[in-house]
Amino acid sequence: MVAVTVSMCSIIGYYGPGSAAKVIVDGLKKMEYRGYDSVGVSTLCDDRIETRKSIGKVAEVNESLRLSSMRGRIGIGHTRWATHGGVSSSNAHPHCSNSNKISIVHNGIIENYQSIRQQLRGEGFIFKSQTDSEVIANLLQKNLELTGSIRESMLRTLSKLKGSYAFIAIFENGTVAAARYREPLIIGLGQSAYYLSSDVLGFADHADDAIFLGDKEMVIIRPTGMEIMNFDGAPIPRAVTKIAHELLTVQKGEFSHYTLKEIFEQPSTIMRTSGTEWYDSETMLDRLRECKSLYLVGSGTSYNAAVIGTYLLSKYAKKRAEPMIASDVQFLPHFLDQEAVLLAISQSGESADILNAANIAKENGAEVMSIVNSLTSSLFRESSFSIGLNCGPEIGVAATKSFTSQLAILYKLASKLSDGKINPNFKEVSIAMSKVLSNSSKISRIAEEFENVSDIYLLGRGIHFPIALEGALKIKEISYIHAEGLPGGELKHGPLALMNEGVYVILINPEDSTYRDTLTGAHEIKARGGKIIGISNTCNEVYDRWIEVPTIDEAMFPIIESIPLQLLAYYASIQKKADPDYPRNLAKCVTVR
Ligand code: BG6
Repeated sequence: MVAVTVSMCSIIGYYGPGSAAKVIVDGLKKMEYRGYDSVGVSTLCDDRIETRKSIGKVAEVNESLRLSSMRGRIGIGHTRWATHGGVSSSNAHPHCSNSNKISIVHNGIIENYQSIRQQLRGEGFIFKSQTDSEVIANLLQKNLELTGSIRESMLRTLSKLKGSYAFIAIFENGTVAAARYREPLIIGLGQSAYYLSSDVLGFADHADDAIFLGDKEMVIIRPTGMEIMNFDGAPIPRAVTKIAHELLTVQKGEFSHYTLKEIFEQPSTIMRTSGTEWYDSETMLDRLRECKSLYLVGSGTSYNAAVIGTYLLSKYAKKRAEPMIASDVQFLPHFLDQEAVLLAISQSGESADILNAANIAKENGAEVMSIVNSLTSSLFRESSFSIGLNCGPEIGVAATKSFTSQLAILYKLASKLSDGKINPNFKEVSIAMSKVLSNSSKISRIAEEFENVSDIYLLGRGIHFPIALEGALKIKEISYIHAEGLPGGELKHGPLALMNEGVYVILINPEDSTYRDTLTGAHEIKARGGKIIGISNTCNEVYDRWIEVPTIDEAMFPIIESIPLQLLAYYASIQKKADPDYPRNLAKCVTVR
């Protein structure tokens, strides 16, 4: 079985006076949310490349293989998230060329790796892994032997590769080279040191000046300095960007997990997001008012925010908008034309599906705007207008604070496009959030009941349905319990068949226009033996468990009712002895389609 390692990983490189291994291991720890199946480091010392790699998380492998004590002031590192091809030490990166004079780390897909491998095998090269990435190392060796020049070897190798990639290579002569096409790669400029990384977090402790490599660009670092050029070898000037200080301070503090810390940050992040000034927004708002069709597009949690956005724009701004799952835009391009705006919603701004959707929109003449958390992301750079969440870096793989901040932006947008028909009071929302959070121990006790539960259903009507979807996604993502969000009105049209003794149903049921009908559904479930957890501002006898949310302006209930769902998922994950920050098989930002 020849398998492709379609990895979505973090890559990092260091070139400087200090210990490369230490910097690399610290950086990999910071980027571990991108992938955590295996880890590896190569360093160059005394003109010899040494490589250590194995299965497991950074801390474990660093412990067992003493990665940070590897010698050398030049090095590369990698954490892997395997999709195709086994989780094994041989598939772990870095991969060395047959001569062992070159070592590489790679993120992305080399789609034509099999034909390259075959050709190189025919020329006597041997392959030690099942990965697509290893072809890069041997192709570089072949071209270096042919041309004697690292620059030429890179250019020839790049001309052969198809797919999406960012890779860093170290050469025995002390040169470091890297290139990107469709996968993020950032250069950090430190005191007499260079850093290369998939994410600014990888070197944020060491440098606050960065250069974001563009698509089809490469960099070569030698003792004489750094050169950036395109894939034709032409030098290109690149602007230096200052990294936001806040990225330097991503710590868990007194919380046991980033996920819990980010849940508890929301009373303050909602105020920061709602208080952030939107520059040049009048033009953006005019475009949104004028456009014939408007699509709100996202993946995962960002898609659920998009669905809520369409409710708000339709109800308050009388603006018809359609939610679209980012990975489906490729199948529905025909509506995307010059009269259309695609409003892309993404925490990372690097998810491959959302970037692909933006590309398709542009190819069809539509305008791309975005709501994004990372202002250093590709989506931010690709958008004509972009609104930042300003809720700070989010490390926990399951999106929490970024979701409520996305909602805050969508409420503000609906308010601006409706000339104030809705006037969100975020201070009231922030206070209400704190009240719900102060109830976390009660919610944790309810989550203990999920110990042997295999299915949980979440019901919500109208705008509460996408909140049910989001709650179900959180529970699935981090507690591995099957959970399903259902539109409350659909119960009798099928899902009621699933309701029987001991089934848990979470009801999103604040006192608004949906309240009565949702209660009716609750009685039908109860009649079949279902257990009801009611999330509401008012208690009701039909609930077996009641999680109170404060009474506020009913229009704002969707924001605060997501907090108890995040907490239930978190405590259920702890109950299941899972790692809420790094849930199995998932990653914070999926950069492959
Ligand atoms: C998944 C994350 O990989 O991508 C989810 O685990 C997230 O939390 C989804 O909602 C979409 O990511 P983004 O960055 O495009 O909002």
